[in-house]
Parts: sequence; C-alpha cells; structure tokens
Amino acid sequence: MRPTTGAHPALRPGRIGELRTANLLAVSPMTRVSATADGTPTEQMADYYAEFARGGFGLVITEGTYTDAAYSQGYFNQPGIVTDRHVAGWREVTGRVHAAGAPIVLQLMHAGALSQGNRHRDHTAGPSPVRPRGEMMPEYGGHGPWPVPKEMDEAAIAEAVRGFADSAVRARRAGFDGVEVHAANGYLLDQFLTDYTNQRADRYGGPIAHRVRLAAEVVAAIRAAVGPDWCVGVRLSQTKVNDFTYRWPGGAKDAETVFAALAEAGASYLHIASEGRDWIETARLGDGETITRLARRVTGLPVIANGGMHEPERAARVLAEGHADLLSIGRGALANPDLPRLLAAGEAPRAFDPAMLEPFATLDNARRWRQAVGA
Ligand SMILES: Cc1cc2nc3c(=O)[nH]c(=O)nc-3n(C[C@H](O)[C@H](O)[C@H](O)COP(=O)(O)O)c2cc1C
Repeated sequence: MRPTTGAHPALRPGRIGELRTANLLAVSPMTRVSATADGTPTEQMADYYAEFARGGFGLVITEGTYTDAAYSQGYFNQPGIVTDRHVAGWREVTGRVHAAGAPIVLQLMHAGALSQGNRHRDHTAGPSPVRPRGEMMPEYGGHGPWPVPKEMDEAAIAEAVRGFADSAVRARRAGFDGVEVHAANGYLLDQFLTDYTNQRADRYGGPIAHRVRLAAEVVAAIRAAVGPDWCVGVRLSQTKVNDFTYRWPGGAKDAETVFAALAEAGASYLHIASEGRDWIETARLGDGETITRLARRVTGLPVIANGGMHEPERAARVLAEGHADLLSIGRGALANPDLPRLLAAGEAPRAFDPAMLEPFATLDNARRWRQAVGA
C-alpha cells in the first residue's frame, strides 16, 4: 500500500520531553534471546540494533532486559543490565546506534511468574501464588505448565523496585537516552495490575488504584534516581503473552486510574500495545474512546501506539485522528529495518514472514537488501 499524497505524516519530527526524534517511528521492544549465557549483549546485537537506526527509525526501543540477579530474568540468553559486563556490552550497542543517528531506550523487564529462564526456575516470584494461565513458550525453550510463583513479601517487592531503579542508573551509564518500564504483556508489573493474578490483601492488592501501586512505585523510584530530565517511559497492554483476550475489568475508568498514577509518578511517555486487524476498533474501550487517545487526554504525555503500524494507511490514520503521538513497529520492523526510508520513497513495505523471528534474520535480510541496491 502506498501513502496517498505527499510525505507520510509519520515522517515529521517528534519529541518526548527532552528527547528529539527525527520522525514518529519507533522500533517496538522485541526479545531476541541472543545475549551470552551471562546476559551480556554481543557485537551481533550491536549490528542488529544499528540496522534500524541506519534504516531511519526515529527511536529504537530494546528488547526486555532483566533488572536484578534475583527473580527478574525471563529467558535464557536474555540480556541483563545488572553487572559491569552488561553495562560494557550495552555501551557498544548504544554507541553504534547513536553513530547511525537514532536515540535508544532500554526496556526494563521483570518477568515475575512468567519466567522460564530464571536461575532458580522452580520458584518464580509474583504477587500471589496463582499458576499463570496457559503453558510456557516453546520458542523460548520452555514446555509444560508454569510453576506457581512464591508470593512476594514487602522485602521482595522493595528488592524488585530497587532493581529497576539501579538498572536505570546503569542504563544511563551505558549511554542510553532513557528507559521504558515493561508493565505490559503479563510480566511482573502487569501481574500486579491484573485482578486474577493479584489476590493480595495488602496495599498492593484490591482495587485498581492499589494494583497499579507497584508500577507507579517503580516509575517514581527510577525518576528519583535519574532526575527530572531523563526519559522514563512505561509500556502497557491489556492482553498478555499467555492471555490474548484480557481487558481491564473497569474499562475506561480503570484506564484513567492507571494512566493518572503513572503520570503522577513521573513517566515521560506511555507506550500502549493493542492489536487486531482494525486497530482503531480493537483499541476502543467499550464503545468509546481509544485507549491511546484517552491516555493522551488524561495525562498530557506523549503516547506511543503499537500493533500493525507498519501499514502506511493505518499509521497515517492513527496519527491524523489524534490516537497517538508516535508509533512503534515490531514485526514490520523485522521485515523492514529501513521502513522510514521506504515510506519516504513511497515504497510498499516488505511482508513479514515468521522465519524473520529468527533472532538475526533481520540482519541477514538487511545485508542482502543493501547489496541488492548497492548501498
Ligand atoms: C519476537 C517478538 C519479541 C517480543 N518481545 C517483546 C519484549 O521484549 N517486550 C515487549 O514489550 N514486547 C515484546 N513483543 C511485542 C512487540 O513489541 C509488539 O507489541 C508486537 O509485535 C505487536 O506489534 P507489531 O504488530 O508491530 O508486530 C515482542 C514481539 C515479537 C514479535
């Protein structure tokens, strides 16, 4: 599909607080399970991330990266931001992405009960001892039912919060332009947000204003650690990797409570994943407003929308109707690490193929395409 007339609206410059982006297109966070066994980012990862910057993306958001040596790791070969070796490995990545002209944000992730590559696999940690729905993901080396997590006590919660804040400080040392707190997709912070995985009777459980408390405390702790001017985003979704149909039970009212708490805690942007062929329809809360436009209105913060945004017409409509300030692109970026350049040239994006989920297929494809056009 070609954009109808003139330059595509996603090619306008963007802004998140102090952070300037050359356009409104971000690479969505994508787990690649390609770090070394101890979680150190590799040279090949630097090549992979630099490819998106070379392709013209205005912002690169990394894969979910674990934040402490206790329970946060979700997958074997997931990168961490815990040790000096991790920081050194990431410094290579940020240097390469910056040299290619884009800012880069590190996604901070605590897997909680959805861990299948944690060093003490038989005892994951989560809000309540509730076995997660579904089964572990074979593509990440898991099989069978998830273990029942150990209920986190106040000390374990404080340790997790500290892990996020210390990791943000290390991320800044590694040259990142900001961090994104992963509160989506069913991982720890989303387990606290979700009614059926959070059965706590303390101040972290019960009504939505309590269930969002941990995510808000994480954002506030990071903000206190990094100061007022550095980018601290938050990613949210209603669905989860192990539950594709979940919706916040209180609809727009829950959404308003969540958005307001995160903005109050000091978030710089909200990044909201929705899904479905007709994005604007599936992003509606009940019959009403889209989740992203509501987030913009409630917080006044920049909002990144995600889900099928590699389609030029959908992307243009989402921006034109004010549903989002920026767009993030996952599978479409694997297929088109040069998507912004294609849009600028009015060329159709290449189709996504599941073979591209191979961690570095994107890199091999990009090399082939560059050779083909002599770039
Ligand atoms: C291989 C793969 C890995 C992913 N890993 C993450 C992740 O680490 N963190 C995250 O927030 N979302 C992750 N996602 C979700 C994507 O960021 C995005 O929400 C999803 O692919 C839908 O967007 P799209 O239609 O542009 O692909 C992943 C998606 C894919 C395909």
